[in-house]
Amino acid sequence: MGQVIKCIGMLTSGGDAPGMNAAIRAVTRAAIFNGIRVKAIYRGYRGLITGEIKEFQTENVSNIIQQGGTILKSARCMEFKTPEGRQTAYENLVKEEIDALVVIGGDGTFTGARLFSQEFNIPIVGLPGTIDNDLYGTDSTIGYDTALNTIIDAVDKIRDTASSHERLFFIEVMGRDAGFLALNSALASGAEAAIIPERETKVDQLEELISNGFRKSKNSSIVIVSESNITGGANGLAERMRNEHPEYDVRVSILGHIQRGGSPTAYDRIIASRMGVAAIDALMDGLRNIMIGIVNNEIVHVPLSKAIKDDKPVNENLIGVLQILSI
Ligand code: F6P
Repeated sequence: MGQVIKCIGMLTSGGDAPGMNAAIRAVTRAAIFNGIRVKAIYRGYRGLITGEIKEFQTENVSNIIQQGGTILKSARCMEFKTPEGRQTAYENLVKEEIDALVVIGGDGTFTGARLFSQEFNIPIVGLPGTIDNDLYGTDSTIGYDTALNTIIDAVDKIRDTASSHERLFFIEVMGRDAGFLALNSALASGAEAAIIPERETKVDQLEELISNGFRKSKNSSIVIVSESNITGGANGLAERMRNEHPEYDVRVSILGHIQRGGSPTAYDRIIASRMGVAAIDALMDGLRNIMIGIVNNEIVHVPLSKAIKDDKPVNENLIGVLQILSI
């Protein structure tokens, strides 16, 4: 049995993701339901250092489940990477009588959490909040499903103009160095190919695939590309294609930050709500330094170290499915 938790601190950090507000709501209400006080920390770890902290009641999280972004704001905080920054953060925790933290974010958020918890012996539970879906130990991260739906909505629209002008489009999606968004949006939007950092694709291979399509019934093509130095991004690929195959009328569309916004899908709201409640359950059970995940529709507890370090593999079979369906 761990220590009795009387008051938790809660923050969102790193890139925001749709569904973070649903998670904030769930954490707040589950804590209060169990007699635990909740202190909202604004602007991620930066707010912990500057002391931007406010006690939340249930009404502070009313009418937010449907909102994108995060009402707590987010930041990528360099100061928290320094021992001095973390020392100040700890002093603020003590001052606010916070005995445990729930942090909602991705890789960087959990890396900071792990270090902080080791240095100061603070129980921390992480909720996976990132559109990238690149955290090991959960089938889906909060925000991924919404981003995927935003992408396919945009690709459907681009398809209309691609087809009218008989063009080849390279559409760049987010995901930093992970191909989940690219691969699954390619499948869901009927794209010809997905270029992902996990797998090398040569321009010649790509041309063969595209020209097969053009020779048969198609007069346009869509290729989804992960933003990453490894893939070269949509601009890099388009440049190579233009040089090596000038016969194509190539265009690029970079979807950018629209992928991070918008009202969360039902799926993201549901997993965020379940994970938020599970975070409070875990803290009350004495668990610490874990991430809450959902695998095969069941809540799981994943050591933070594993969630950060282990690579979550993309399902390579999906590449085969994509190839079959793009003939
Ligand atoms: O990690 C989430 C993410 O949206 C990545 O997909 C993307 O590469 C990055 O954040 C962009 O970060 P920023 O908003 O700081 O430019």
